[in-house]
Amino acid sequence: MWMNLFNPSDTDEVAKKILQKGEIVVLTGAGISTESGIPDFRSPDGIWSRYDFTEYATIDALLKNPVKVFGFFKEFIDPLKTASPNKAHYAVARLEEAGIVKAVITQNIDNLHQKAGSKNVVELHGNATVARCMGCRKLYPLKELESEKYGFPPVCPDCRKLIKPDVILFGEMLPEDALKSAYQYSMGTKLMLVIGTSGTVAPASALPHLAKRSGADIVEINLEPTIITKSVTDYFLQGKAGEIMNELAGKILG
Ligand code: APR
Repeated sequence: MWMNLFNPSDTDEVAKKILQKGEIVVLTGAGISTESGIPDFRSPDGIWSRYDFTEYATIDALLKNPVKVFGFFKEFIDPLKTASPNKAHYAVARLEEAGIVKAVITQNIDNLHQKAGSKNVVELHGNATVARCMGCRKLYPLKELESEKYGFPPVCPDCRKLIKPDVILFGEMLPEDALKSAYQYSMGTKLMLVIGTSGTVAPASALPHLAKRSGADIVEINLEPTIITKSVTDYFLQGKAGEIMNELAGKILG
């Protein structure tokens, strides 16, 4: 019903608005990576339609049943190693290169923004290419944990605690510095471009609201309207992030 209330926007109008503003901040979610073959979480065929996140993605579940949760990690994280950025990631990187995108704040752990060339990436939920000991906090390249010497689930040879992918599970605190930067960028921008997030998980979901309250225009790209669309979005570009971002970057960069 409320779909009729949305005046879906177009890339001409949004490109003009972005050029007027000069500098923008991008917020991304799992939807920007689905065209790279990485499933998102809450679409009908998303990860949480197959796994109960309370059993696989909370810190308590990991401590209670490490073998089960590490089995999930293996299935979910292994494909990230070979995934490649798609047109949307490259478009965001081109816009950063041109001085338009000031920062990318991402909820994703797939490292695809960095692989596409983005430099200023604020990772709210960590990065799955590294692992960290839960005891002494020592960092390990995830690849290294494949060796037998760490066992399964992997244990730190120094302090004998579990080594887990350096990603934030439900129930864990977000990295303080990343959160602080995300708040600062959101409050300081004149336009936030929100790509491929359902806007359902805090504190990331608060960022478009924070930006809006600080005077920013909100542009949203998604396959379908979300909670954000209904509340703060000013320009809604409905469709696939890859196509839309490619077209938008082309119109902005000429
Ligand atoms: N183009 C545009 N939008 C897309 C595309 C696409 N190709 N594919 C999916 N989407 C949209 C979906 O319609 C959905 O609104 O992306 C959104 C993905 O939402 P979620 O699956 O909820 O992912 P996200 O918002 O990133 O989840 C936030 O939840 O489980 C936790 O830690 C996890 O970081 C994750 C957080």
